[in-house]
Amino acid sequence: THKIILDTDPGIDDTMAIFFALQAPELEVLGLTTVFGNVPAQMSAKNALSLIELAEVDIPVCLGAAMPHVGPESSYAYFVHGDDGLGNINHPEPKGQLDPRSSAQFIVEMARKYPGEVTLVAVGPLSNLALALKLEPQLPKLIKAVNIMGGAAFVPGNVTPVAEANIWNDAHAAEIVFGASWPINMFGLDVTYDLPFSPDFTSQLAEQNPKLGGFVQQTSKFYTEFYSQGKDETVCYFHDAFPLAYMLDETLFTMTEGHLRVGTDPLHKGQTSFAPNGSTTSELWLNMPKLKVATAVDHPRLTQLFIDVYGR
Ligand code: BDR
Ligand code: CA
Repeated sequence: THKIILDTDPGIDDTMAIFFALQAPELEVLGLTTVFGNVPAQMSAKNALSLIELAEVDIPVCLGAAMPHVGPESSYAYFVHGDDGLGNINHPEPKGQLDPRSSAQFIVEMARKYPGEVTLVAVGPLSNLALALKLEPQLPKLIKAVNIMGGAAFVPGNVTPVAEANIWNDAHAAEIVFGASWPINMFGLDVTYDLPFSPDFTSQLAEQNPKLGGFVQQTSKFYTEFYSQGKDETVCYFHDAFPLAYMLDETLFTMTEGHLRVGTDPLHKGQTSFAPNGSTTSELWLNMPKLKVATAVDHPRLTQLFIDVYGR
């Protein structure tokens, strides 16, 4: 099994990803570290608590960064995920308590406890990971890999023409995280926007797993309305589950190796500018550490994997 920490801002696709991780016997979820993003930090942490209670598991949930590294408080994505971040379905209030450690502290503690074993799966803004790097500069040596949902290498962004939401929400943190020397696998809009899910898919999740799949089906209604605006079909996207699926089956994805820079100036804020190996001689890129970017995904097999894991 793989030890993971899931860094998240639930969030509807985060919800689908959290349940996927908890259902997969191949993954040992050490804890959920939460961060502002889709919703403010406190709500993100509270939602994560509600979700693990629903799944009836007892793992730490930590409160994380409330603000980006630089600049003002973020604007939140209530129009995508609902006023409560979970599709306005009146989900139950959590009964449990947050872990006393901050998200960044928890990441550092687990990395020291299990050196070389922990994969960070980051599906929100990268603020907590950047804070953890500040707390423990040796962190890249202690962490096995960092699997990120974020960015857009060869496709347009979803917040600006060039930026994806997780990277845009804390571009300075992203610059720090992509600049550190640890193995990074990036799953951006290149693959997550390539695979739309119809309501038939969430029905199948609900059939396989009435409780958790049923919750995803309920909570996805609001989200699907948002994504279907102006389209002929009813669809939504489960971005955040992609980096987890990779851990179960790497052959689902085509990974392209290269170097990446994150934009931080106003025009390019959050842009992930990717140079595949051999495509540039510019030191602006070559000085950055190498990473792998997902550039294609096997639709039928990934869809089937989601359904299978919900059924376990
Ligand atoms: C990412 O932004 C958030 O809205 C989603 O949860 C996902 O992590 C997609 O751009
Ligand atoms: Ca997310």
